Amino acid sequence: MGKCINHPDRETNYMCMKHNKYMCEECLKCPDPKIHCKFRPSCPVWFMDKKGGKDIDNKPAKQDKKKFNVIFQTENKKAVVEKGATLLDAARAADVPLNASCNGKGVCGTCKLVVLSGKTKSKPTPLLNDKEKEKNYVIACQTTVESDVTVKIPEEVQEKKLQIAGVGKKVTAKLKSLVKEITPMLINIPLKLEPPSLEDSISDLDRLNRGLDKSGRDTSRMSIGMKVMRELAGTMRNDNWNVTASVVKKKCSSEVLKVIPGNSKINSLGIAIDVGTTSIVVYLVDMENGNILAATSGHNRQAACGDDVINRIVCAEKDGIKKLSAMVLSTINGLINEAIHSAKVNRNQIDNAVISGNTTMTHLLLGIEPRNIRREPYIPSVSAFPIIKAEDIGLKINPISAVFIMPGPASYVGGDIVSGLLYTGLHREEALTLFIDIGTNGEIVLGNKDWLMTASCSAGPAFEGGGVRWGMRAEEGAIEKISLDSKTFDPLFAVVGDVLPRGICGSGMIDLISEMLQTGIIQPNGKINMDSSHPRYLHNGDEKAYIIAFANETSVEQDIIFTETDIDNIIRSKGAIFAGFIVLLNQVEMDFSMVERVIITGGFGQYLNIDKAITIGLLPDIERSKFKYMGNSSIAGAYMALLSEEYRIEATQISNNMTYIDFSSNNEFMDEFTSALFLPHTNMEVFPSVKIK
Ligand code: FES
Repeated sequence: MGKCINHPDRETNYMCMKHNKYMCEECLKCPDPKIHCKFRPSCPVWFMDKKGGKDIDNKPAKQDKKKFNVIFQTENKKAVVEKGATLLDAARAADVPLNASCNGKGVCGTCKLVVLSGKTKSKPTPLLNDKEKEKNYVIACQTTVESDVTVKIPEEVQEKKLQIAGVGKKVTAKLKSLVKEITPMLINIPLKLEPPSLEDSISDLDRLNRGLDKSGRDTSRMSIGMKVMRELAGTMRNDNWNVTASVVKKKCSSEVLKVIPGNSKINSLGIAIDVGTTSIVVYLVDMENGNILAATSGHNRQAACGDDVINRIVCAEKDGIKKLSAMVLSTINGLINEAIHSAKVNRNQIDNAVISGNTTMTHLLLGIEPRNIRREPYIPSVSAFPIIKAEDIGLKINPISAVFIMPGPASYVGGDIVSGLLYTGLHREEALTLFIDIGTNGEIVLGNKDWLMTASCSAGPAFEGGGVRWGMRAEEGAIEKISLDSKTFDPLFAVVGDVLPRGICGSGMIDLISEMLQTGIIQPNGKINMDSSHPRYLHNGDEKAYIIAFANETSVEQDIIFTETDIDNIIRSKGAIFAGFIVLLNQVEMDFSMVERVIITGGFGQYLNIDKAITIGLLPDIERSKFKYMGNSSIAGAYMALLSEEYRIEATQISNNMTYIDFSSNNEFMDEFTSALFLPHTNMEVFPSVKIK
């Protein structure tokens, strides 16, 4: 909360994310409505200005020190909060995984709860329908606690298990084939040392070094910690001079991190972690042969602080970095536990780890100050990290485990993209390749073995479900494929998990918009153009919508609809990505005809229809054989770096070789973005093969 720029006596929650200026309801106006602002997807001023919303009371709540219990029934968790705290505050305090896409601004409707008992006070909201109100649904961030209360997360918004794309035998075999030699960071070296005698009276440490030398290690640049030296005398004599030394190899040196008695073989394991803004994936890997023993995935707990990286940074500034760090760590450690149990192994066997994530995620995980990432000129605190010990960052694996963090070239292009390149190998080939990772940011890379250019086009989280009324991730209950009957407009859809639908994910949305366009349900400007008597037409307040599934066909017992605002948000996201393609190509005086390959990665689950993505203007209208969808390349790259020193070195080279272009104040990008706000584009010559009604 801060003071309005024009009315310093007024406190307000609305802050322009670009200029860091607070505005009260009367002054809500985007200062740069015509430019493409990278903060727009999460900017409350833009949202309220565009929505014309003036419905939230900004007066500060009176402070009352009375404390109440908030019980989250399903999760069996409890928070103690002061009177007047919101239910979202309580969920965060209790570490309950409640989504809060807009970070508590009261505009997204993802933070729904059902009040089972107790007194609460809610601000008026258009985000609940009559049925929901009857069932005591509330919007958690707009509802304050007035007594002890018990709540539950409604079934339809409870997080389900994410699909892990690509850990079948085929993909595992492909990943293994990419690693020529397994070269971990930390190795356990079994040694049989000569016992000392009057003729051989060198010190214990010299004896250890001699043993290491004999085993083929170079001890000339090897250091040893105080703790290990203090324990050395006992350790070496404990098992008749048989010991195992754990040595970590760093850039130009190595260090003995631990010596234990006994020299029997240790089955060493590794862990590759993809820390996404939305979801996290963990692979547990056998470091002997590269086999993936278990793969687990879950939602990043930080989702309680908003959908995108800007909201996460804002949250860290307000609540402290430690809190955000703890949220992501609890998700990662939970997934590690699942993997350990499923593979029936001991966590202390895990002595190597690689973490791949965008720059903000990496900063927050490591507890590094992220505030300058969102302030011009957008500088990260760290872009390349030394090898870290697991205990220093709170990973619940062997405390001395060596952790490699994927380096990232810029604040908005991070280690996850470097991982993607490592996996796809575009930087090793002659062919001019366009790479796009469709997630919250929409990062693009253009180049080949000689040069690499990169940018982030702030696409926003629409393709991951953010800002879309029934949008969701590719998890159980998500409509992932859809086609429409050209006469009846009735849909035929496939749902993840083969269950009743409860929302629609990115690939489903691409299909749906393409089909709506082809059948004439929407016009190229995204406006719905249906006969108002059609049973699938809905006029909802000011807005028109298409009913994808009627209440009795869904698991949520409500109509799943697709509104004009949803379509508008998708058009903005795809427009930003397409504009990014053009501007990057223009920078090197090239065009789409020169592009030999297009690689798409991101969280679309198992499915992405390239033709339909072209029809809506997300992907360029070029030969279809040039496209390749490669799923989650961040975890694949992390796996490669986990097993191979060569790939860890290569990752650093990729990051150093990338030239970053900032689009936030690029006029050309703004013009291209505006031109792309049409289906497929304002210039149909750019999409010659797309025919629409
Ligand atoms: S409406 Fe509560 S977090 Fe968005």
